[in-house]
Amino acid sequence: MQITEMPLTGTIGAELSGCSLENDLSPALIKTLKQALARHQVVFLRDQHLTLAAQKALTAAFGTVLRLPYVSPMTDEPDVICVLKEADEAGGVFGGEWHQDFSFLETPPAGSILSAVEVPPFGGDTLWVSQAAAFEALPTPLKTLLRGRDAMHVGKPYGIKWAPPMEERAGGKIKMNRGDASADIERAHPAVLRHPVTGREALFLNPQYVVRLDGMTEDQSRPILETIQKHATRPEFTCRWRWQAGDLAIWDNMFTQHFAVNDYAGYRREMWRTTFDGDTPRTYAA
Ligand code: SIN
Repeated sequence: MQITEMPLTGTIGAELSGCSLENDLSPALIKTLKQALARHQVVFLRDQHLTLAAQKALTAAFGTVLRLPYVSPMTDEPDVICVLKEADEAGGVFGGEWHQDFSFLETPPAGSILSAVEVPPFGGDTLWVSQAAAFEALPTPLKTLLRGRDAMHVGKPYGIKWAPPMEERAGGKIKMNRGDASADIERAHPAVLRHPVTGREALFLNPQYVVRLDGMTEDQSRPILETIQKHATRPEFTCRWRWQAGDLAIWDNMFTQHFAVNDYAGYRREMWRTTFDGDTPRTYAA
């Protein structure tokens, strides 16, 4: 096994080649993947065409496979979410805003794995941002404001108080349990994390789920959070993946945000998504 690593940008993302994950989940290969993930924050492999069983086995090699609340999994596959948009579906897409998967949970997923089953002929890319690069480039006063401070996360799209208007709601083919008051509960996580392998400090903030900084009201927090998010998503902190059927992405959910681009009206897109657990964000507090 000779894995080749080709960075996508100088900041985040690498394409790995030279292995087939359908046939080899040896400890040596998994170690190599985990090391590459720590360095690049998201890694991509082309031509994998994993079966559901193989994707679940790969996910389990990274951590305990998570079952997530509020979003219905595939029928008979409680560990897998089918991220599907049919050709005739209008409206938003699942994940069509910068976010970290389920950051409002006590223990959010440590990472997620997405495989491309059917992709549009153009569009439907996914973007990731390095929360470490974004933090490192923040002005010092903002770093000081965030270090040692918690941010309050809420399952906004699934709750009542912060739920988006009907026309902005995503995922017609994905069954979501909305209007659940339990999703409105605020959960405090450190605003800055330190990566356990690289030691880099990183933002743990995203606009989908963070409603305010601890010790501030929503109104006081909003301009600060918006300024940070605008900075964090500067193009030089991002990478973008142009999917082909059979591709696989593995990302570190604690240290990146991602965004599914909704620009393929009239075409079908089907992805399988699994997630694995890790430690609580508090464990990684900077
Ligand atoms: C997600 O947010 O997990 C979905 C990403 C995508 O469909 O590209």
